[in-house]
Amino acid sequence: MKEQIQKAFTENFGTGPFITITTPARANLIGEHIDYQGGYVLPIGIDRFIYTSARKREDNKIALFSFNYNQYFETDTEHITYEENYLWANYILGVLDEFRKLGFAVPGIELTIGGNIPVGSGLSSSAAVEVSIGVLFQKITGTKLEPLELIKLARRAENEFVGVSCGIMDQFSIYLSKKNSALLINCKTLEYRYAPLQMGNLKFLLVDTKKERSLSSSVYNDRVASVKEAVRIIRQEKDIEFLTDIEDISSYKDKFSEETFRRALHIVEENKRVVEAVNCLENSDFDSFGELMYQSHKSLKELYEVSCRELDFIVEFSKNIRGVKGARLTGAGMGGCCLVLIEEKCIPTFIDELAPLYQQVFGKTPEFYPIQPVDGALYQNI
Ligand code: GLA
Repeated sequence: MKEQIQKAFTENFGTGPFITITTPARANLIGEHIDYQGGYVLPIGIDRFIYTSARKREDNKIALFSFNYNQYFETDTEHITYEENYLWANYILGVLDEFRKLGFAVPGIELTIGGNIPVGSGLSSSAAVEVSIGVLFQKITGTKLEPLELIKLARRAENEFVGVSCGIMDQFSIYLSKKNSALLINCKTLEYRYAPLQMGNLKFLLVDTKKERSLSSSVYNDRVASVKEAVRIIRQEKDIEFLTDIEDISSYKDKFSEETFRRALHIVEENKRVVEAVNCLENSDFDSFGELMYQSHKSLKELYEVSCRELDFIVEFSKNIRGVKGARLTGAGMGGCCLVLIEEKCIPTFIDELAPLYQQVFGKTPEFYPIQPVDGALYQNI
């Protein structure tokens, strides 16, 4: 894939020296929908990548070619604005705009971007593009940002330029993940550490529901707003920053609507599950880890309501298959991928049995991606 992107770069922009940035996707093991409420999350970088081949130009042209969309877009450094007709370009332009806002001069750039991260599958192809452009900008201009500054910049591009109120998990993990580890992030303090992933004969398998997620960003923004509202209500009596500052949410039950209470309960309980899950990893206790995955999914389905029939079907199916330890939706939900923790030797049977059943019920074929925890963009591009 990398070679294809490099070849496409040369075809579009001619020969001569250029650089290529490699950026992984992410899968979250547990800690869902709590990064924007100061919770703990436990993602990994995975072996699906975005490649960006690029070089600086002498003039102020910004020339972008998307390999996956087979589209070319051009503007200049004085006109970095939201593009209705080239949505993919906004993740690139948004990052350049954030560098500009920090006072950096944005040079003319020509680049080709593409890769094998499925789009709309909840594996954060968008954050991978943002981080990739952040790394690229530093390389071609000689700028050096601290890792956290770059991560926050990439997130702002998504919040402000693209307009999704996402938390910080995706950009964080895509930049700082390490192979054979999970990344534990405290999204309140932004401290982080690595937890060992000594998986023995186990593997993580992603099952892509292939469900269209047309309304997902509005549901996402709605959840972010409703838990903010819960924080506002609690603040009338107690000085908190986030829902994860609360130990026992039940004492506030009568202050909320039934729905807001369920949302808040998910946040508080999911946060505790992450702490337990890290303990499990540290003790290589994958049975209990898998159990926490199932609990997390149930909570996302019943309390937070960000699952869907397809994801629930895969999780229920998983419970009856030999060698499966746990399963849950990963990422924002409402479609996208289900993450399954399974003995490696049981993967072929899992796939052979699920694929026709799923096809029968939903009229489409799921895709299966066995994944490996890999280094984040910082370490891929040293
Ligand atoms: C999306 C967002 C993240 C996070 C997850 C849900 O991937 O970009 O910030 O909120 O959803 O855990």
